[in-house]
Amino acid sequence: MTTFADLYTEYGVTSPHELFDQLRDDRPLSQISLPNGVPLWLVTRYADCRTALGDARLSNRIGARVVAKEILPAEIRASMGTHMLRVDGDDHTRLRRLVSSVFTARRIEKLRPMVERMTSDLLDAMAATEHPDMIRDLAFPLPMQVICELLGVPIADRDRFRAWSNSYLAGVGTQNFPVDVVTEFVMYLRDLVAHKRTEPDDKLLSAMISARDNEDRLTENELTSMCFLLIIAGYETTVNLIGNGAYLLLDNPELADRLRHHHDHIPAAVEEFLRFESPVPGASFRVATETLELGGETIEEGQMVLISLLSANRDQELFTDSHRLDAERTPNQHIAFGYGVHYCLGAPLARLEAQIAFRQLLERFPKMERTDPTADLKWRPGLVMRGLTELPVRLTP
Ligand code: HEM
Repeated sequence: MTTFADLYTEYGVTSPHELFDQLRDDRPLSQISLPNGVPLWLVTRYADCRTALGDARLSNRIGARVVAKEILPAEIRASMGTHMLRVDGDDHTRLRRLVSSVFTARRIEKLRPMVERMTSDLLDAMAATEHPDMIRDLAFPLPMQVICELLGVPIADRDRFRAWSNSYLAGVGTQNFPVDVVTEFVMYLRDLVAHKRTEPDDKLLSAMISARDNEDRLTENELTSMCFLLIIAGYETTVNLIGNGAYLLLDNPELADRLRHHHDHIPAAVEEFLRFESPVPGASFRVATETLELGGETIEEGQMVLISLLSANRDQELFTDSHRLDAERTPNQHIAFGYGVHYCLGAPLARLEAQIAFRQLLERFPKMERTDPTADLKWRPGLVMRGLTELPVRLTP
């Protein structure tokens, strides 16, 4: 059986698109195994990916299969793995409903002044830095500040969150799953919940604690898991959208100029960045609860499935000239935020942050270029995120 390691040796993480082109043509559903040996079906065509995302027989309750049951203590696993993205049906509806009102487009729009202020402060600091870096100075801190503010978690701990989540995400599906790191993160979250119980505020985490303590709407494990999910999903993803979009703007100066003069074209450009370099390359793992047919193959009950959003979003069947960045593409039916009941809860927030970040960046710096345009881009390791580790730039106000 082909392994991810084989695939990556052949193509490298730098050129997954070539790999996916070939898979969509030759083996749209491929049986592969993760680096830790767990076998799964990799789904690469847009139509199959969308069908799979909408199929309730593919469950998100994958249990301990990917993170190796024997190495992560069950009580730690329960405290980080019982969030809405890991459950189905009524449990999913209940957990999603608890927080969904905070993430509606209307509520998120109210955050605009705060996000604008944060962005402008970050750009002030970046302009004053001798060696500015888009990832370090903008793409990382902006989403981190926003999610910490929304949840009411201390921004002073941002470097710890970053270290924990980087290590967790790089370890998913590998033999080096960072048990110690995840345990430390869970312990931190338990302490944080205890602290907020004694000193509540008007932020989301305190509201969730009240929903647990006063209304019994979720368990203690679901509470810490929700926090784990929101911290990781709330910033790791958007870092990559802002970082990937920034590199696409630097590589396409005419596009940058056009957007500089036509701010109303920025939202469509953000949609194309999401399609073109999808920040979350794959949906979370699914498991078949019964035998089913997909893309001409039979998936047996109990088998795992990985749905490649990165591949689906470059499928020529749906997107004309799919490897061309077309910031005016209409319609643009990318599935970078997923599809179906688990469709990204934070999509309005991610869009708001990215639109503000690009608008201010373009307005503020009429000339921006990569410090070394010929240098290879440095992509993050691992299967779970598609984003850059650094993007050094020269900025001219
Ligand atoms: C560019 C940024 C983002 C991208 C590309 C992205 C992508 C996704 C995708 C693909 C899914 C579905 C996964 C699946 O079906 O397996 C998802 C779900 C989710 N996302 Fe995002 N996301 C982003 C930003 C955010 C933000 C800012 C938050 C904020 C808190 C967030 C919270 C969530 C949550 C809670 C879910 C689970 C929804 C559910 O299970 O019903 N995401 N996201």
